[in-house]
Amino acid sequence: MTEIPEHLLKRSRDRKAAGGGSSDSGSEASVPATTTPAVPAPRAAAPEPVVSQAKPDPAYVAAAKKRGKIPHWAMATLALLPIFLFMYVRGLQPQKAEASGPIAMGIELYGACASCHGADGGGGAGRVFKGGESLKTFPHIEDMLNWVYAGTEAFSAAGVPTYGDPDREGGAHAPYSYNGSPMPAQGAKYGGALTEYEILGVVCHIRYDLAGADPAGDWAEEYEKWCSEESEIFLGLEDGSLTFDSPELEIGTDPRPGSPAGEMMGA
Ligand code: HEC
Repeated sequence: MTEIPEHLLKRSRDRKAAGGGSSDSGSEASVPATTTPAVPAPRAAAPEPVVSQAKPDPAYVAAAKKRGKIPHWAMATLALLPIFLFMYVRGLQPQKAEASGPIAMGIELYGACASCHGADGGGGAGRVFKGGESLKTFPHIEDMLNWVYAGTEAFSAAGVPTYGDPDREGGAHAPYSYNGSPMPAQGAKYGGALTEYEILGVVCHIRYDLAGADPAGDWAEEYEKWCSEESEIFLGLEDGSLTFDSPELEIGTDPRPGSPAGEMMGA
């Protein structure tokens, strides 16, 4: 047994006298059955609440209590504040172009082609893309990249008689065969303004958005490899680890004849 100091015993006796109940001692556990709940009783008897209730609030406290808190309509706005803040901070960070993939880049750059080829690829001063036309000329995307990079004048100067599929429906396309005007070179070697990954971007946009290649159907393999957001070729061209002249890509920056459907260069 430990000895209970006299002042604690006295406090316990005082409380019992005041409230009739006690929670101080485990040995009195049977007592609450006959009395009101033990804990609140002593508190009710404590002097402090009486004192604070007795004192009226000063005018400025009463005014503050009466005043409404945050109005309900403002609550809705305030609840969205963290989201606005998040969006604002996101907006301050510059967006990386490579995050959006070749097609998104091609959509942005297609303005350079639209003046001659039409916003929807319907043609004009330049040849028609839509309705599968570009896919007929270029069953292989490599040949289209080579053509757009070099343009009409380089093909003509190099003496390459046709570009794209030599067995094209309606006849192979030859330099200056459309309306006698040249297709301006887009690649740096011939004074063009587009980088190689940008050329891939516009070519992907033309094939999949304008000419109508189905990225989930017949063209799925090409799409995955060259034009999807995960395209390693696009990323490689962007970070410089690949170029149109990398042998494994079979593109080339020198004008060269294309290959028929179902057959690859060198095959
Ligand atoms: C100044 C007008 C003009 C602009 C700008 C232009 N092109 Fe052309 N494009 C032509 C002409 C003209 C031809 C036909 C060339 C020929 O007959 O030698 C052509 C042909 C093509 C072809 C071959 C189509 C086929 O089926 O034979 C492709 C692909 C092409 N252009 C892509 C592009 C892309 C991509 C751009 C933008 C980066 C672009 N062109 C910008 C005028 C233009």
